[in-house]
Amino acid sequence: MYGYASKAEVLADARRYWNPDKTTFWQDEGVPLVVGDRSGYRLTDVDGHEVIDVHLNGGTYNLGHRNPELVATLTHAVRHLDIGNHHFPTPGRAALARRLVEATPGADKVVFGSSGGEAVDVALKSARYATGRRKIVSVVKAYHGHTGLAVATGDSRFSQLFRSDNPAEFVQVPFNDLDAMTATLSGQDTAAVIMETIPATYGFPMPEPGYLAAVKQACEDTGTLYIADEVQTGLGRTGELWGVYGEGVTPDVLVTGKGLGGGLYPVSAALLGPAVSGWLERDGFAHMATFGGAELGCAVAAKVLEITQRPETRANVHRRIDQVTEGLADLRAELPHALTGIRQKGLVIGLEFGAIGAKQVMTELYRQGVWAIFSTLDPAVLQFKPGLLLTEQETAEILTRLRDAVRKVAGSHV
Ligand SMILES: Cc1ncc(COP(=O)(O)O)c(C=O)c1O
Repeated sequence: MYGYASKAEVLADARRYWNPDKTTFWQDEGVPLVVGDRSGYRLTDVDGHEVIDVHLNGGTYNLGHRNPELVATLTHAVRHLDIGNHHFPTPGRAALARRLVEATPGADKVVFGSSGGEAVDVALKSARYATGRRKIVSVVKAYHGHTGLAVATGDSRFSQLFRSDNPAEFVQVPFNDLDAMTATLSGQDTAAVIMETIPATYGFPMPEPGYLAAVKQACEDTGTLYIADEVQTGLGRTGELWGVYGEGVTPDVLVTGKGLGGGLYPVSAALLGPAVSGWLERDGFAHMATFGGAELGCAVAAKVLEITQRPETRANVHRRIDQVTEGLADLRAELPHALTGIRQKGLVIGLEFGAIGAKQVMTELYRQGVWAIFSTLDPAVLQFKPGLLLTEQETAEILTRLRDAVRKVAGSHV
């Protein structure tokens, strides 16, 4: 379509005009993927190498690549609609907002965006408005996106480079350290705590039992708002629509993105509870985004929610959870020195590879026909994110290829 005669030509232009470091990184890591065809959970590199996708861009492709129902929805929508005018109410925007609020205990109003970072920024701004405070607390190695406020909540690797770190207003405490959290909140000067239910980019460390509920309690005790970032843990991956309720927390704000647009049209949302949504009554023009709540995206997102909430989908997710849990337990029993730990809540999974590290496994797995990515902020952990609509056969294939890859990498380390 673009007139390239070979992959090498694509890579040359990508290096020259797009992102030299990232392009080179993947070649060096032995994952020379340039995605060509994509369908269901399968990706085919332009040179023909086929892989099953268990990266899913953090859940963007929860329902598969080019899910036929979502493609039909978008195709139908594009015959009648475009992105719409963001200043006016529309049926699609109103209906999606209503559907999200009805599916989310504690939610009251919805602000749409086109990326997770943008929705996180809206959540933080709303919390600052509601409390009149500036301080935001997140966890060490947090990752909530790269937009203006979101990036300041995250790891210094991403904020310092752009002079976007701001330690006076953005404070970080270690994950699972309740004492550090309560001490930080005790000054009663914090607008919000923002937490992923299970921090993805940090390799999915599991919250200790009761930790998140205790953080929420500490928030309530100090007039602090709780923002749940469900960009990765939401939309059915834990077995429930949102993961945070399973931890006994009703957040003041819930942020969703990625899979909400079905991998076909970017849409994200900050679901604001009544304590946080006040600015929408006072000045509805206070936050604006031309593409936020684009009508095409709303059409796709409504279908995503419908598919995700179907009893058949939920039943499939639970069957896949059982299958994957058993397969991983067998692999760990066989190779405990390689696969040193399994972090799992439903289909949110981090595989610990201790001294071997996750990158070698990632590369071997790619060769064997599965694409799963290492955790940027904990390279010992492989993010392993099976899709919600995988069949038993596909899941078995993934597990077999994983076993073969881990055996091979472990063998080379004996
Ligand atoms: C937990 C979490 N929050 C927010 C974001 C930011 O989303 P986006 O890349 O759409 O801005 C990400 C992206 O990976 C994420 O993983």
